[in-house]
Amino acid sequence: MNPILECFRDTCAAAVSNHRAPSDIVRALAPTMGDLARRADDFLEPRHRRGEADGYTRNLVFGSEEEGLSLYAIVWRPGQWTPIHDHGTWGVVGVVEGLLEEQAFVPANDTGDESTETRISLAPGGLVLLPPGAVATFVPNPDHIHQTGVAEDRPATLSLHLYGRMLNDFHIYDRAAGTRKLIKADHS
Ligand SMILES: [Fe+2]
Repeated sequence: MNPILECFRDTCAAAVSNHRAPSDIVRALAPTMGDLARRADDFLEPRHRRGEADGYTRNLVFGSEEEGLSLYAIVWRPGQWTPIHDHGTWGVVGVVEGLLEEQAFVPANDTGDESTETRISLAPGGLVLLPPGAVATFVPNPDHIHQTGVAEDRPATLSLHLYGRMLNDFHIYDRAAGTRKLIKADHS
């Protein structure tokens, strides 16, 4: 592994073992993510920059179930968006290139029921625009619900996403139907 990534991974592991609260973990790691995003050209490989025409692309940089961490490089072409989703863990996002847009959503009828299929109504919350070098974080319980992507008239964007687990499943939300559903997500 590239020494920059190895150092980042060690810093993440130390933050997780030194802090119990997710809010403390993301506070400890936010500046480190900013540094990592600014140095991305020194460690990103062509496979991390792989994009696709039919949707945003998550390229796994490192991570495993055992270590309880994962880092993805996500490639967004103009007009590519996630579904509205949550994460089931904490996260730290750093932008490398482009302009990443994040629209938060707030449950209007949260019952605290985290089961896989639930009636849920969402209202739009705040919006943030993240230029290169910007860092955004979130914590679970209640889970952070958002939709992330790049507007049609903006340049392609590359961002780094660190999570407190392998993000191979999460809930997606259908606002029109008022439903939440757990889905499996592939990564490479
Ligand atoms: Fe997300």
